[in-house]
Amino acid sequence: MQTILVTGGCGFIGSNFVRLALQQLPACRLVNLDKLTYAGNPTNLTDIAADPRYRFVKGDIGDADLVAALFAEESFDTVVHFAAESHVDRSILGPAEFIQTNIVGTFILLEAARAAWASRSDVRFLHVSTDEVYGSLGATGFFTETTPFDPRSPYSASKAASDHLVSAYHHTYGLPTLITNCSNNYGPYHFPEKLIPLIIHNALKGKELPVYGDGTNVRDWLYVGDHCAAILRVLQQGRVGETYNVGGNNEKQNLEVVHTICDLLDAKVGLLPDGAGRRSLIRFVKDRPGHDRRYAIDAGKIRQELGWEPSLTFEQGIEQTIAWYLTHGDWVEAIVSGAYRDYYEKQYGK
Ligand code: NAD
Ligand code: DAU
Repeated sequence: MQTILVTGGCGFIGSNFVRLALQQLPACRLVNLDKLTYAGNPTNLTDIAADPRYRFVKGDIGDADLVAALFAEESFDTVVHFAAESHVDRSILGPAEFIQTNIVGTFILLEAARAAWASRSDVRFLHVSTDEVYGSLGATGFFTETTPFDPRSPYSASKAASDHLVSAYHHTYGLPTLITNCSNNYGPYHFPEKLIPLIIHNALKGKELPVYGDGTNVRDWLYVGDHCAAILRVLQQGRVGETYNVGGNNEKQNLEVVHTICDLLDAKVGLLPDGAGRRSLIRFVKDRPGHDRRYAIDAGKIRQELGWEPSLTFEQGIEQTIAWYLTHGDWVEAIVSGAYRDYYEKQYGK
C-alpha cells in the first residue's frame, strides 16, 4: 500500500489532485497537511473527507517537529508537495510569506524526508513547481527543461530556490526526487483572485473586469485535471532526479481569455440588465510590476518519455470551467464574502 503525504491539499490544484489520487490509487493512504491559509479551503474536499483512506492534518510545512512526527507516525513512501504561497501579485505586496513557506518550508520537508528515508530508493519526493522559474519569453520560443532559470517576481524566485533545493537533495544525498514545472492552470476550485475565476465571478455580477496593461501578455493554459494526471504519471513512471515540463499548448493573450469568458457567459446566462454584452465591463488597469510577457511550455519530454498529453483543448476546458462556476456559486460567494473563514474557525479553530 502506498502512503502519500500531500502538502497544500486544500488549495486549488492540491484538492483536485487528492480527489484524483483517491480515485486512481484504490490501495493508497493519503494524508493532507495544510496550514489553511487564506487560499486553503477544506470545503474543496467535502465529498472525500469521510473516506477511510484519507486524513487531514491542519499544520505548517515549516513546523519541523510536526512534519517529523507525521513521517514517524505514517511511514510515508511518497510526498507530493503543493503547499506554497502561489499568487504573484501578493508576492509583490509582501514577499516574506513566500520566502518562509516556499523556500524554508520546502527545506523542512526535504530534511524530514532525508532523515526518514535514509538511503531508500523505493520512495519518491515530487515537487510541484511552475514555468515561471524560467522567466519571460519574447514572441517566439518555448521553455524546455534545460532553459536557464531567470525568475522575475518574488514568487517565481522563491519557487526557483525551492526547485534548486530539491535538485540539490537528489545530487547530494541521493533523495529520490522528481520536479514538475507547469504552466497556468484553470478549472474547478480556483481561488477567485486569479485571472480566470476572478473574471468569471465579476462578469456574472456585472462588475468591472480588470485587465493589466494592454492585455496582450500571453499565458499557456492547462486544465487542472490534466495537470493532476501528469503529476500521477510522473510519480509512477518518471525517472528519479528528473524534471518534467507540463503544459497545455494553449497559448492565449489575456484579453482573448477575457473575451472568451464574456461571450460564453452572454450566451449561457443572457446579456447584462442594460442589454450590453459583458465585454463592456473590461477596464484596462495599471500593469503588474515586472509583468512577464509570455510563457509557453515545450511538453515534449513528458509526452515522449511518459506518454502524457492533455485531454482537453482550452475551448473544452473553459466551457467545463464556466459550467462548474455556474453550479457552484455558493462556493465562490463563501470566499468572496469571507464566510469560509467562519467555517474554518468552527471546524479547526483560528
Ligand atoms: P493555492 O494557493 O490554491 O493553494 C496553496 C495551498 O497551500 C493552500 O491550501 C494553502 O493553505 C496551503 N499552504 C500555504 N502555505 C502553507 C504552509 N506553510 N504549510 C502548509 N500548507 C500551506 O495554490 P495552487 O494554485 O493550488 O498551487 C499549488 C502548487 O502548484 C504551488 O506550489 C504552485 O507554485 C504550483 N503551481 C501552480 C500553478 C497554477 O497555475 N495555479 C501552476 C504551476 C505550478
Ligand atoms: O505559470 C504558472 C503560474 O500561473 C503559477 O505558478 C502561479 O501560481 C499562478 O498564480 C499563475 O500565475 P499568473 O501570474 O500567470 O496568474 P494570474 O491568474 O495571476 O494572472 C494571469 C495573467 O492575467 C497575468 O498575465 C496577469 C493577468 N491578470 C491577472 C489578474 C489577477 C490581469 O490582467 N488581471 C487580473 O485581475
